[in-house]
Amino acid sequence: MSEIIPIGSDHAGFELKQRLVKELAALGFEPQDVGTHSAESTDYPDYAHLVADQVSRGQVTRGVLLCGTGLGMSYAANRHHGVRAAVAGTAEIARLAREHNDANILVLPARFVTEDQGVDILKAWLTTPFEGGRHARRIAKIETESD
Ligand code: RB5
Repeated sequence: MSEIIPIGSDHAGFELKQRLVKELAALGFEPQDVGTHSAESTDYPDYAHLVADQVSRGQVTRGVLLCGTGLGMSYAANRHHGVRAAVAGTAEIARLAREHNDANILVLPARFVTEDQGVDILKAWLTTPFEGGRHARRIAKIETESD
């Protein structure tokens, strides 16, 4: 069975989301598109909560969000217990967000990357494992603070 990956955006991330949904399917994942479904203006927290709630509850292991800067989506997603939503504007940041920060939600700043860059960022995040070790100790400290 293929892994379900929820993906959501506001209007600013809509076009890139459409591309990433296709890329996820082509890579063998089952993208679950929670919206938005048009370029009409909408509110990013509505989609952030839909994706982050599933990650927080353990219904899925990871998810993807997009908005103009990535910031609003990350603020909302990171309110959920156990969520580590990382804004990544380059593939290198996406890789480090996995290796060092075990990011379980990738947030793309859709107004600051091209579609091809967005695909590269997604692939880097999907394929990079968490390094563990000293980074696991640091992440445990984040979780303690939020209890
Ligand atoms: C929408 O204009 C924009 O504010 C939103 O996409 C995002 O960048 C917010 O953080």
